[in-house]
Amino acid sequence: MEEEAVDVYKMAKELGFNPIGIHTHIGSGILDPEPFKLAVTVLIDIAGKVSEQADIQFDFIDFGGGIGIPYTPEESKLDINNFGEEITALYKSKLEEYELGKPTMCIEPGRYIVVADKPFSKPVQKIDIAGDVCESGDLFARDRMMPNIIEGDLLAILNAGACAFSIASQYNSRPRPAEILVSKGQSDIIRERETFSDVLAKQNIPMRLLK
Ligand SMILES: Cc1ncc(COP(=O)(O)O)c(C=O)c1O
Repeated sequence: MEEEAVDVYKMAKELGFNPIGIHTHIGSGILDPEPFKLAVTVLIDIAGKVSEQADIQFDFIDFGGGIGIPYTPEESKLDINNFGEEITALYKSKLEEYELGKPTMCIEPGRYIVVADKPFSKPVQKIDIAGDVCESGDLFARDRMMPNIIEGDLLAILNAGACAFSIASQYNSRPRPAEILVSKGQSDIIRERETFSDVLAKQNIPMRLLK
């Protein structure tokens, strides 16, 4: 892994680029600091070799996301202060180990910074929650304990992080939803709900078929 990274940075320089950073993303939903600490260790081990062998001065080292949030009553919140202290201490000692100077440490907390910290309602029934497209994988939750809900109720997934509008699509010819910004007790539509005309907007029907 380190050798491949060294080769890639050398190649980038030969091609005229000036690489100044290194990045990883081990995934979203991290509630346990240990895998993240391992990522910090491994990435700086790689950065150290790259710096030494490909002569790179790193301006930043980015450990990616994504700090998790509890989705069930059994899960507990990550202790963010403790996490910050542990990661910073590890970062500093690993930088010293490889004499990497003082590159900026970046992390991408993701949904953690926009969580709606709501209490969980008392669950009374076990259900599957599925979407409306024709894929058996269009499933938000399986065997999920939920409060009593009936047809017509609106369900909200309060904390979807990156998995919201940025990955919404018109798959199955479904118009994409509106985006609402809720802040300080006020709400604003920041992106209009699409209509079926929007879905058809870029389609052309060949003239010969209209005859
Ligand atoms: C590069 C990167 N950083 C951070 C995140 C974390 O974001 P979130 O917690 O909103 O999913 C993601 C999510 O996939 C990501 O791809």
